[in-house]
Amino acid sequence: MLAVLLAAASAGTIPRACSRPSDREEFPFCDPKLGLDARVADLVGRLREEEKPVLLTARASPRGAIPRLGVPEYDWGGNCVHGVQARCGSNFTRCPTSFPTPGALGATFNRTGWRAMGAAIGVELRSLWLQGVGEDHDGNLPHIGLDCWSPNVAVTRDPRWGRNMETASEDPLLAGLFGVEYSLGLQRSPLERRFLQAVATLKHFDANSLEGHWDANGTFDPANGTVTRHTANAVLTRRDAASTYLRPFRLGVEQGGAAGVMCSYNAVNGTPACASAWLLRTVLRSTWRFDGYVTSDSGAVADIYKAHRFCANATCAVSRALAAGCDVDSADWPQGEPWGTGSPYMDEAARAVRTGALTRGQLDAAVARALRVRFRLGLFDPIDDQPLWRIPPTAVRAPEHERLARELSAQSLVLLQNPALAYRSGAEPDRASPRVLPLSAAEAATTAVIGPLSSAREVLLGKYFGQVCPGNHTAAGTGEQRPEWYFACVATPLEAVRALARGPVLHAPGLPSVRSTDRRGLRAAVEAARRADQAILFVGLDSSVEEEGRDRAELGLPGAQPALIRAVLRACARVVVVLINGGAVAAEAIRGGPAAIVEGFYPGFYGSETIAQALFGDVRHANRFGKLPVTVYRRSYTRAVGMLDFHVAPHAGNALGRTYRYHGGDPAKHVLWPFGFGLSYTSFSLHWAARGADVRKASLDNRHPDRVRTFELVVANTGAVRGDTVITAFFSPTRLPAAEAASAVAYQLFDFQRVSLGPAEAATLRFDASARALQLYDEAGDGVSVRGEYELSFCDQGVDQSGAGTRLTARVVVAGVEKAVLQPLVLPSQ
Ligand SMILES: *[C@@H]1O[C@H](CO)[C@@H](O)[C@H](O)[C@H]1NC(C)=O
Ligand SMILES: *[C@@H]1O[C@H](CO)[C@@H](O)[C@H](O)[C@H]1NC(C)=O
Ligand SMILES: *[C@@H]1O[C@H](CO)[C@@H](O)[C@H](O)[C@H]1NC(C)=O
Ligand SMILES: *[C@@H]1O[C@H](CO)[C@@H](O)[C@H](O)[C@H]1NC(C)=O
Ligand SMILES: *[C@@H]1O[C@H](CO)[C@@H](O)[C@H](O)[C@H]1NC(C)=O
Repeated sequence: MLAVLLAAASAGTIPRACSRPSDREEFPFCDPKLGLDARVADLVGRLREEEKPVLLTARASPRGAIPRLGVPEYDWGGNCVHGVQARCGSNFTRCPTSFPTPGALGATFNRTGWRAMGAAIGVELRSLWLQGVGEDHDGNLPHIGLDCWSPNVAVTRDPRWGRNMETASEDPLLAGLFGVEYSLGLQRSPLERRFLQAVATLKHFDANSLEGHWDANGTFDPANGTVTRHTANAVLTRRDAASTYLRPFRLGVEQGGAAGVMCSYNAVNGTPACASAWLLRTVLRSTWRFDGYVTSDSGAVADIYKAHRFCANATCAVSRALAAGCDVDSADWPQGEPWGTGSPYMDEAARAVRTGALTRGQLDAAVARALRVRFRLGLFDPIDDQPLWRIPPTAVRAPEHERLARELSAQSLVLLQNPALAYRSGAEPDRASPRVLPLSAAEAATTAVIGPLSSAREVLLGKYFGQVCPGNHTAAGTGEQRPEWYFACVATPLEAVRALARGPVLHAPGLPSVRSTDRRGLRAAVEAARRADQAILFVGLDSSVEEEGRDRAELGLPGAQPALIRAVLRACARVVVVLINGGAVAAEAIRGGPAAIVEGFYPGFYGSETIAQALFGDVRHANRFGKLPVTVYRRSYTRAVGMLDFHVAPHAGNALGRTYRYHGGDPAKHVLWPFGFGLSYTSFSLHWAARGADVRKASLDNRHPDRVRTFELVVANTGAVRGDTVITAFFSPTRLPAAEAASAVAYQLFDFQRVSLGPAEAATLRFDASARALQLYDEAGDGVSVRGEYELSFCDQGVDQSGAGTRLTARVVVAGVEKAVLQPLVLPSQ
């Protein structure tokens, strides 16, 4: 049956609801003149009890088809974290565009770019769906659906977390705005006003930022640790919950209009997230007015009783999840099977209703919420006037999508260090002296390419990518062992350097892999470095060190990579270290040394090319460097902050607090490079647009929280080449009533703007401050405006405390009531 459906689909005839001539007369749910809720209610009313659970089960397609009602299969659960995670379209020839990982995208600080990416992913998903293309998992999974289980808007709570590559930032506003733009781009199409193009599913709700395996005392114990994402209990204060863990989701729902949310494996304050009526009903639906669907993470419903032991058995877990508002159940699926198996909803929902553990009304409400999303996608309406049913196969990997992926990759690289070529330890670099970067592409220059990632292909993509190279996927086998061609179209760093350098290129990996301690290759690497005028080291992490299900215990470079770097630095005077990683790497041994350092993150399909262009200063593409969306900590950070500690604000167990918001990027607080930091090949000046003390002062009144005071700044490119910079705007409470002072963040980002300027070009930037923009969170978790004094900082090197960057400050007095509640954690009626 599956094969028949796929064959039919690839012939351009996706099975459609309400498509038979009689359907409109027979079924009111097919009548577009009726209201959405009435249509959904009519369809729910026609369902038999046994038909309901399958409609609520992800990856059960095509079993969810109901031919007697003309309702076709629908597969919940595509992934589109940085590109559609599907097989290639047009008979395996056009593969989905693969963008940089979100960890890299955060560094672009580019809202326009994020929205454009969401739009590109959405249109590609529509095209692939129309072609009947399958998901790209190892099992023979079905026709991909139109809901994306992305974006991941969690904050990067800790650099040890294995999924940092999937999230944009440690800052809740930045992570949230990434989700907002992604959702707006993905869901809304300029072609269609009535229906959603695709569905964004914000994940993982909430406080999911630990993979495993840890002992109960916080010791990393990969063999025997029992604290994993399936068992972890995130203990959150109400203030941390509201200000940090819930905020990105709230932005994604309220400003991005995301139609989906995925509840997480972990428990929050003792209740498994997917069984939490407080999270899913009180906060999400009642307070934020979310009207979409909720899915569980894969296997999270079973975790409710098996891992958390919150319930005695599956019947109870299923009724608790459905009653709380977890509508769709994503079960596990075994390799090679056409669909998921062991679905708790399919196995237990009927029993739950029969035994009274769940009411029929609760089950029907979940079915209605899930079906409503399918209606909102236009899947029950005539298609003649729906342009989204005519997206051509050529929309996939369209040239403008490739261009966007390249640009975002270039904008996401961060230049951490670029010392003078005539480096002398401790000496002040002469501004005019030549730097390590850009490298020379001249014929006379010999380049050595070194490092365990110098020949990487797959590693550059991070995780969560679809099929990237053309070829018949079904011939590619299953499991981790992919055939050679599977990643062959991804350029390696070595290939990209060879394409740009006109002089000789020597290659010696030095180490066979990032974790290797086998030093036999070091000699050849040193030899190559000695013979070269310039050496590029590609080092970092890969999925053997950090990934879903795998945290890091250590922040340093694994294996013998530090020794390799030391040896190359002794052999060559001009060295650049390119870091490839998700979670930040504590490269403290080379901080302040003679090597240039470029943070590449997992830069994506075009990463090798954009990195090589940046290193050689290719005039068309180079110098689009971004800024750090996370703090880069020293290795000692892991001793100061426990992995199981979910506090964000400082407390008795962690005086440091988490993220720049509490320690302000102070180097004494284990910080190597602060949030917002990043250099350029050019220089910028930053000054007030007008003279006088008045431009640095403002008064606001929290009785009018949306009244805006605009600050105008001029940023100018004072160097010789085009370049980009990001001005980050923070507020700091400086004098508050005693009751609130202890709670206050040191810095909180409230706005940012990226600019791209040619030599001698300048731009005027406007930043709006209001009592709402300066919102704090009180102990009860309410968003409040507190009367008092605040300092605003406009920075070109983030919260750098070492004096490297320019920081313009302004003083704002907020008058009005002592404390105005602007955004209650939950509505008073709840
Ligand atoms: C798909 O491509 C294969 C060769 O790769 C070819 O044998 C087959 O006929 C093609 N199918 C369609 C529908 O074009
Ligand atoms: C934590 O517990 C494990 C056993 O679960 C033990 O081996 C380890 O020494 C403990 N570590 C500390 C720091 O107490
Ligand atoms: C820890 O795990 C290893 C390997 O799975 C096992 O051999 C060992 O007995 C375990 N130790 C404890 C204390 O459970
Ligand atoms: C499941 O557990 C509940 C108590 O939580 C109990 O009442 C019920 O009988 C159990 N159901 C089954 C099928 O064991
Ligand atoms: C943001 O990204 C878009 C898409 O790549 C690009 O066109 C634009 O120039 C970027 N904005 C800035 C200020 O760099």
